[in-house]
Amino acid sequence: MTLHPAIRKDAVAVVTGGASGIGLAAARRFGSAGMTVLLADLDEARLDEAVADLGADGITATGFATDVSRRANIVALKEEADRLGPVGVLMNNAGREGGGGLLSGPEVWRDTLEVNLFGVIHGLQAFLPDILSADRPAAIVNTGSKQGITLPPGDTAYNVSKAALKALTESLAHDLLDTKGRVTAHLLIPGFTFTGFTRARGVTEKPAGAWTGDQVADFLLDGMAAGDFYILCPDNEVTRETDLKRMRWGMGDIIENRPALSRWHPDYAPAFRAYTERDG
Ligand SMILES: NC(=O)c1ccc[n+]([C@@H]2O[C@H](COP(=O)([O-])OP(=O)(O)OC[C@H]3O[C@@H](n4cnc5c(N)ncnc54)[C@H](O)[C@@H]3O)[C@@H](O)[C@H]2O)c1
Repeated sequence: MTLHPAIRKDAVAVVTGGASGIGLAAARRFGSAGMTVLLADLDEARLDEAVADLGADGITATGFATDVSRRANIVALKEEADRLGPVGVLMNNAGREGGGGLLSGPEVWRDTLEVNLFGVIHGLQAFLPDILSADRPAAIVNTGSKQGITLPPGDTAYNVSKAALKALTESLAHDLLDTKGRVTAHLLIPGFTFTGFTRARGVTEKPAGAWTGDQVADFLLDGMAAGDFYILCPDNEVTRETDLKRMRWGMGDIIENRPALSRWHPDYAPAFRAYTERDG
């Protein structure tokens, strides 16, 4: 299997939100390729389990208790990474849901933005200078969401955080052009994936429509190897074609001067349905 050049034995993979779900599955892939793995997560008990789990598979892994929303924690994480070796992969993946609607309290909004957006800004600002000055390949993966692109009504704070993360990651990719491909950025856009997020909603068995974290991790490594920036995962219900149609429709709101989020506007429901049912 071809791998992104940053995935190599003499380098460290730092994965935030790495004790569970997509982060843990990705860490396993990086570790299986011989990288030293540094897992950062809030949940210390789960971190210990994850490190033991990876260790049982022969992966060298360290857990580091981290709240990504706290800049000092990320600075300490960087120091820990430096003890382990040069960083090849930085995966800013920790995230939280449950921001709620527009009128949710300011503390909920702040927490959501501080984890999902500032957590990544802290990660980039702490790790990027050394990644840029090193003379070796590196990859930065930020875990976004389809909700940050199509903005389904409901969890507005989450959508806003992931929309901002998309903008941040796109700007990062542009800034990295100066490295002439030595350092690459990737926006991982998972579909519906059975993880701690799903379990937190009381779901204990993988829903048929969901992918597993392992499927997302495999898709991520393939996308990174192909040099893709947008790593847009399908799931067992939503195909890539459906995702592309939904995104085109969303962009069409501006182009066609439709109301915002017309996909969910009662007057536009028939037109949206007809559009998605049309071939091509
Ligand atoms: N599961 C899905 O369907 C789905 C879909 C789209 C995007 N995502 C994104 O995938 C990423 C990973 O989530 P997951 O689905 O694997 O869920 P998960 O709950 O299994 O993993 C998230 C991990 O992040 C950790 N975390 C939360 N806040 C943190 C903080 N402040 N500092 C450090 N760690 C923190 C949690 O403890 C947890 O271990 C998130 O960014 C999420 O938004 C998930």
